[in-house]
Amino acid sequence: MNKMHTMNLTLKNFSVDSDDRNVVTVTLDVPGRSMNVLDRDVMRELCDVITALEKADAARAVIFRSGKESGFLAGADVNVIAQLTAPEQARELIEAGQNLFARVARLPMPTVVVIHGPCLGGGLEFAMACDHRIARDNSSTQIGLPEIKLGLIPGWGGTQRLPHLVGMKAAVEMILQGRFLDAKKAARLGLIDQAVAPETWEADVSSFVDRVAGKPRKRAARGGRPRRWTGRLIDETSAGRAALLWWTRRHVADRTDHYPAIEAALRSIAAGYRSGGDGYAVERDEFMGLVATPTSKNLIGLFLAREKARELRTWTPTGLPALEDPIRVVGVIGGGAMGAGIGQLAACRGFDVQVLEVDQAAAEKSRATIKASLVKLAGRKRWSKVKRQDVAERVHVGCDPGALADCDLIVEAVVERADVKREVFANMDAVAKPSAIFATNTSSLSVDELSTATRRAGDFAGLHFFNPVHRMELVEVVRGRDTSAETLSRLVGFVRALGKTPIVTGDAPGFLVNRVLFPYLGEAVKMVRQGYEADRIDREVRRFGMPMGPLELLDRVGLDVGLHVARSLRDVIGDTSEVVDCLAVMCEHGRLGVKADGGFYEYHKGKRREVATLPAGVVRSQYAAIACDFRDDGLTDIQRRVIYPMLGEAVRCLDAGIVDEAWAVDLAMVLGTGFAPHTGGPLHWIDRVGQAVVRDNFERLAIAEGNRFDPPKRLKRMADLERNFLDRPSLSSG
Ligand code: NAI
Repeated sequence: MNKMHTMNLTLKNFSVDSDDRNVVTVTLDVPGRSMNVLDRDVMRELCDVITALEKADAARAVIFRSGKESGFLAGADVNVIAQLTAPEQARELIEAGQNLFARVARLPMPTVVVIHGPCLGGGLEFAMACDHRIARDNSSTQIGLPEIKLGLIPGWGGTQRLPHLVGMKAAVEMILQGRFLDAKKAARLGLIDQAVAPETWEADVSSFVDRVAGKPRKRAARGGRPRRWTGRLIDETSAGRAALLWWTRRHVADRTDHYPAIEAALRSIAAGYRSGGDGYAVERDEFMGLVATPTSKNLIGLFLAREKARELRTWTPTGLPALEDPIRVVGVIGGGAMGAGIGQLAACRGFDVQVLEVDQAAAEKSRATIKASLVKLAGRKRWSKVKRQDVAERVHVGCDPGALADCDLIVEAVVERADVKREVFANMDAVAKPSAIFATNTSSLSVDELSTATRRAGDFAGLHFFNPVHRMELVEVVRGRDTSAETLSRLVGFVRALGKTPIVTGDAPGFLVNRVLFPYLGEAVKMVRQGYEADRIDREVRRFGMPMGPLELLDRVGLDVGLHVARSLRDVIGDTSEVVDCLAVMCEHGRLGVKADGGFYEYHKGKRREVATLPAGVVRSQYAAIACDFRDDGLTDIQRRVIYPMLGEAVRCLDAGIVDEAWAVDLAMVLGTGFAPHTGGPLHWIDRVGQAVVRDNFERLAIAEGNRFDPPKRLKRMADLERNFLDRPSLSSG
């Protein structure tokens, strides 16, 4: 390759070369970053590159690709977006991107984007401005526009170019769900020209470029690949498009209040079809209207908090795990619901896994569970035969403790009984190598107490996964009294390697998430006892923005599990007897929730049907509205009554030092329970409504309902000082 003679550029982020075919290759490799992102500096340099290409008459084609193995381009730098505080600043950013990509679209020679790994957001918008896109067909390729997850819409032409390429229906789905596509799916939709097998990657890229180099530029027809007549009817007639928009609006109506980006995206997409209209101007104006909304600020805050939680130095002083002894082999004791999930996940992420069960029959059962879910996963993720085989060969299930002798980390996930767990740990202490770390997945027992069954309290901690393991992103890493900084940091690194987000908590009953969640579930149970209808409570809570109501959640978790948690939290949450009694009656009557086809609701094959008729003794009185004059916090009486206990406990956990910082409480509650993400989390919600308003409402609830609603001390202090719980973390602050 020769440095392209027409370009006399000094570039930090790009290299530009031309070969003897006169094909120019522009390679993006942003220094100091694990993944390419479009920050201001990269945009400035891209602008210089495009200016030079506009004059590169001899070039027969241009290839844009990444120099990083991690992927092509993850999109705009979220820190840049986070700093936009006024619509006018957003205008500048959007216009710069739209104009630059319009110039990319007008380059005189064919342009080819070569995609591997993530090609997201601004990265895909850039790729769509080019003529051709080819992508490596493996599981790491992700193509999509996730802006909606930040409360925004694609603003650099995404709402205009995507419908042009794939049709309105597919574009609406992709943009509203922020969904990622793999290479094959993207090719089927017409978003990319070709999905290329990894084995023939470089050769196929080269021959693709040979085919298009020097040819007249391809202009994609609107709507991409030929589709079935129903698809064409929707995309190619104004009546079809109007029907699609009407149907979509109906479908998302319950979310648009909290997530204004949904409507903005639909308006922007529709504007692109209006003859004589300027869809790009509408997209820009809609984006400008969204950047300063609380929803977008909160979602971006959570995104940055998540990045922060995944950094080692957030949790440990040195930030560095002991690299001379990395975790490679993972033991899991107990291959039930949680253990099988943990073992399977670790194998998928490249660890060698040894699952230990209590006997041959249990091992057989666990092996079958893991096998079946790996087959499902492989199909969904379109794994190659090699990958399927590799993962399958990494998991071994047996009942010989000696098989765990070489494990670097052993995660215990046996039944929730202290005596059983202590015995398991004591036995394993004698078998495992001295440097092995032990972790318990207990949800209610004391980590410190369990650690005394071993002689390795420094190498002992909690790793609290959530159910189902593959879907729940949060893992609480529980620091015991004696857990060493090195063990903590190795565990945080392990959680990250599993693709999960760690939050380090102290060792206290319920750790953070269950402890904050329980008062909310408990309050809903008390309300049922007072005659409130379950579906009314759940409906109102969903309207607040929770993914499901507290009683639906209890039914899913299992009322027996809820009862166990209620008992374990007795000492920290005050009087739980009423909740314990109620759940006990439900359990005695076999109303365990979804798994028993009945809890607070009736179920058939896991699907919710009507509200249940509850056993005698559950409902104690008839519903009476609270006659109280609350300060305006935007909540209904029912919402306030169930949400406030959760807010109060979140503040108390912070006060008790279960976690050190407010952003970590908020992130954990959003990831662990689905706490309405648009609010930014419970403590952020208090900050927005005002500490004094929330304190006053707590006091009024305490008068009406009892002293469990007494405002937490720290909240009173913050209200007196007029101080917020949190300033959003920023990545640059470290
Ligand atoms: P489970 O009952 O599905 O599985 C427990 C497994 O441990 C069974 O397969 C059993 O055969 C095995 N086992 C029992 N004694 C053993 C021994 N001595 N050696 C080896 N294996 C043994 O229980 P599940 O739900 O997987 O829970 C496991 C742990 O995870 C518990 O501590 C629980 O509190 C915790 N947890 C459970 C969550 C849930 O939603 N199920 C969520 C988070 C934590």
